[in-house]
Amino acid sequence: MLSASDNAILTQVGPDKPMGKLMRQFWIPVCLSSELTADAEPLRIMLLGEKLIAFRDTAGKVGVMDHRCPHRCASMYFGRNEQGGVRCVYHGWKFDVEGNCIDMPNVPPEQDFKHRVKARAFKVLERSGMVWAYMGPRDTPPEFPNIDALQIPAAERSIFVHQRDCNWLQSAEGDIDTSHFGFLHIGSLEADDVDPDSMHKWGIIGRAPEYSVKETPWGTMYAAYRAADEGERYYRFAHFLFPFITFTPNGDFDDLIACTINVPMDDEHTMSYRVAWNKRTMPLQNLKSGEPIPGLAPESDFLPRTHDWYGRWRLAANVDNDYFIDRDAQRTISFTGIQGIGRQDQAVIESMGAVVDRTFEHLAASDRMIMVTRRRLLQAARALDANNETPAIVDDPDAYRGARGGSFLASDKLDWVAAYEQKLGEAVRMPAQPEPQSV
Ligand code: FES
Ligand SMILES: [Fe+2]
Repeated sequence: MLSASDNAILTQVGPDKPMGKLMRQFWIPVCLSSELTADAEPLRIMLLGEKLIAFRDTAGKVGVMDHRCPHRCASMYFGRNEQGGVRCVYHGWKFDVEGNCIDMPNVPPEQDFKHRVKARAFKVLERSGMVWAYMGPRDTPPEFPNIDALQIPAAERSIFVHQRDCNWLQSAEGDIDTSHFGFLHIGSLEADDVDPDSMHKWGIIGRAPEYSVKETPWGTMYAAYRAADEGERYYRFAHFLFPFITFTPNGDFDDLIACTINVPMDDEHTMSYRVAWNKRTMPLQNLKSGEPIPGLAPESDFLPRTHDWYGRWRLAANVDNDYFIDRDAQRTISFTGIQGIGRQDQAVIESMGAVVDRTFEHLAASDRMIMVTRRRLLQAARALDANNETPAIVDDPDAYRGARGGSFLASDKLDWVAAYEQKLGEAVRMPAQPEPQSV
């Protein structure tokens, strides 16, 4: 349980809120790079409670700015994206990607003051198939975080993006709530049902593992572990990384290069980006027969895209149709009757309400990662708000390299951190290979 005031701090992301200020210290995903075409219409973007537009100019550079024209505040969503900038349709003022006013055609030339007018534009770069903006106070933004999953070459990268009708923290906490996996996703399985050579059977045999959690330079990490064969433990590691990134343990630690970025659109909507290396070896767990486990295959039909602030990447399975729950399947082969891991997650986290009332909950030992992560976030948000202290990770992007999610077997003679460090030294890593950036 959490006090209502702490819950408000954690969940409110507007520019004047402590958590909103904390998030604005970091680079924030805006949209996929592929959503913007040179000289095409601007995109409406809701980000951290602010209404923005994003567009790509004639030269391919991306602009992200307040949707309000700095003249008389008409929405530049209706603007004409033409020859190196967006022209507001109200009086024709035109702005380049940096927000400079480059034309003021309704004013006599001797009276124009375009050099003194600037649209509220953000610093932008493109990395990992996404457009990122820096919405914070610095003139020079911090370096981009050195995270394996954000260094994957385009040909080996998959990105799945979808919108969630709930607060960002519900989405992130779902990722670091490991104990739900054995129920929500595979609760109808017995250990005998799965491939006996798969180490993942241990997660089914031991649905109530031990947990260890610690704070780290990048945020928090935990291990859930249980006994495996003689002398061994089966571990699942996951992380929370500032400001809203998670690593989940859904694969072999050795080559699982993936992250989920839970980007707050506003307090009640989240855009989730799942970025993964598509050369990882471990597929979803299989049954002994080699057949996939029922209910886990991804289902990702989207509703038709609209131009609304919330019109992009909405799943067809949603609260209005109870995520297409199949009660017969629930009685027989599937714990939930809902098809697909992602949909199952979506159903439960959205079912809590747009912003869950955390004064109502009763956390258990299995929720320790969630407790420690909340504490870490609260401390960081308060330190910034009250004392202008920025988390050290903002200026130490290489420290993110210490984080890695995944599962493995290790000797039970090692403590959990020693086991982690040993495996981290052996794991496949992505060399840092910055892609061209446009600012
Ligand atoms: S409101 Fe945009 S040019 Fe006047
Ligand atoms: Fe899940």
